[in-house]
Amino acid sequence: MHTCLKQAGAASVAEAARLLRAGEVVGIPTETVYGLAANALSDEAVPKIFAAKGRPQDNPLISHIASLDMLPMVVREVPGAAYRLAEAFWPGPLTLILPRSKTVADSVCAGLDTASVRMPSHPVALAVIRAAGVPLAAPSANLSGSPSPTTAADVLADMEGKIPLILDGGACSVGVESTVISLAGAQPVLLRPGYITKEQLEDAMGCAVALSDAVLHKLKDGESAASPGMKYKHYAPKADVTILKGSFDAYKEYMKSHCADGVYALCFTGEEPALPCPCVTYGRADKPDEQAHALFSALRELDARGAKTVFARCPAQEGVAMAVYNRLLRAAAFRVVEV
Ligand code: TXA
Ligand code: MG
Repeated sequence: MHTCLKQAGAASVAEAARLLRAGEVVGIPTETVYGLAANALSDEAVPKIFAAKGRPQDNPLISHIASLDMLPMVVREVPGAAYRLAEAFWPGPLTLILPRSKTVADSVCAGLDTASVRMPSHPVALAVIRAAGVPLAAPSANLSGSPSPTTAADVLADMEGKIPLILDGGACSVGVESTVISLAGAQPVLLRPGYITKEQLEDAMGCAVALSDAVLHKLKDGESAASPGMKYKHYAPKADVTILKGSFDAYKEYMKSHCADGVYALCFTGEEPALPCPCVTYGRADKPDEQAHALFSALRELDARGAKTVFARCPAQEGVAMAVYNRLLRAAAFRVVEV
């Protein structure tokens, strides 16, 4: 299959909608990361997403809507708390998990009785959903296990020959995937941290939000993940990544004694001059928004430069930085060394 990369505009959005209505898969920009979209109501279309990504069948997909009247196509029983969150954060980088509707495709839910839904804020994503007229199931548009794509070129690198069309809507502003909160149980649970923080969710709902164990820790053998995606190795570049937790001085000393061919520092912006080895940066130390924006492209750059071993500076673990730490931890296969 030939893959076309087109600048997003009226004609290419209409073409994307035509392909989506015909059951095809299209790469689209969102404010978080690029998505691999298909008609969320079609059990013929959705399996093509799993095939293109090489995604395990038991990992459910997020459905994307452009207006609240699409919500009942994906979920039923929408509690007041869900409306409060929708009002506060939609359109935007927040995904809600609720009991599934009958109309959403079984393959989207991967056998669960819940479904996840979000209204993205990227104008191109909203235009494509509106033009297609159906909710769009869309995981991140990377090959399963690789870093998520934050530019159309990243999508092309992973999806060339596998999908007919990618819309280029520029670099994603947020850079990490949406915050995922489950409202399907007795208590709200944060399953995946993102740009919308736990504190913001608690403020909007007026109640406590529990943090799923899988967010900051490796699940033990036999433990099951509330969010199936959290159990897989994720976001990993080809290099072996280790997070070094400690002061910058301690990091510098460690790098001095570990510098060798193929060893890279994944450090904060501005730290490069003090380090003895090649560096890739991912935002300033005190700017978690910059870190979120830069992390996945930094991981892809390390691959492009042929890094074999990467030692990463450790982000903070609260607020937006919790999302950065959560992704980096998976990229590092949970290897963290205290220095
Ligand atoms: O920002 C985003 O959310 C991006 C853009 C494209 O919108 N999408 C995205 O999708 O990150 P994906 O498939 O890469 O991640 C979805 C995560 C997975 O960890 C999946 O297991 C979880 O959400 N998930 C989806 N539906 C679920 C459900 N019903 N119950 C529990 N976890 C669910
Ligand atoms: Mg993903």
